[in-house]
Amino acid sequence: MEVVLRAVNISKSFGGVRVLDRVSLELRRGEVKLLVGPNGSGKTTLLKCLNLLYRPDEGSVLLDGVDVTAPGVDERAVRRRVALVFQEANLFSHMTVIDNVAVGPRVVRGLPRERAEALAREKLELVGVGPELWRRYPAQLSGGQRQRVAIARALAMEPEVLLYDEPTANLDPAGAEEVAEVVVELARLGVTSLVATHDVKLLARLRAEAYLLVRGRVAFSGPLGELLGAPFDGEAGAFVRALAKSLEAVARLGRA
Ligand SMILES: Nc1ncnc2c1ncn2[C@@H]1O[C@H](COP(=O)(O)OP(=O)(O)OP(=O)(O)O)[C@@H](O)[C@H]1O
Ligand SMILES: [Mg+2]
Repeated sequence: MEVVLRAVNISKSFGGVRVLDRVSLELRRGEVKLLVGPNGSGKTTLLKCLNLLYRPDEGSVLLDGVDVTAPGVDERAVRRRVALVFQEANLFSHMTVIDNVAVGPRVVRGLPRERAEALAREKLELVGVGPELWRRYPAQLSGGQRQRVAIARALAMEPEVLLYDEPTANLDPAGAEEVAEVVVELARLGVTSLVATHDVKLLARLRAEAYLLVRGRVAFSGPLGELLGAPFDGEAGAFVRALAKSLEAVARLGRA
């Protein structure tokens, strides 16, 4: 399968502090990869660089082989093709569920209202948000429902790649579970995704290849199982041991 999204040695600093240090990664079409790392290791910054919400200081991002960090590239067009689902759903509070999902296709992609709404309904059904919720406002939804609407909104742009930034982090266990189910289902359907998460249940179910980011550098890339067994020291070691412990605890609960 061909590589859809590739980062080549991207670096990013804020106020003289190097938050990303020559990070390279690649995602093939239909593939799901994981992004893990301690708080402050640069995961969110990396995701934002990948869809050009941040411009890397050095290095390039290639989308379908084209350098989208080159001068003159339409950043908004890139953001339509590489969608980012944030930790907080970030829905428009004054719009109904259906309008939140249809507004992008209508305004940004220029689809007629009818087609935009049909697309919105299709994507909402896909994430398990039924018609009884479509006329509600975000404040009238649970956290899990809001996050699923946010995923539907990203899908309605028909992106080539979906980036998730800790999609279950702000949710209670039930909400986290319903969002995790959607992420796993979309992965099964072949939606090309990079999933930043600490959610061990989600990690265990996706069981994909992972990138470990530590202090802005890729400290490991490979199967999650290999990552958990790898002998790291320092910050990476502490993080990986804690992650492995949590995963074991979840597996034990599953067997109990
Ligand atoms: N816009 C910004 N301006 C200045 N510093 C920033 C900015 N964004 C991130 N940083 C800094 O960059 C570092 C990496 O932050 P980032 O949010 O990418 O980490 P993270 O891995 O997503 O962490 P977490 O697990 O807590 O979400 C942190 O030290 C953070 O304070
Ligand atoms: Mg983050």
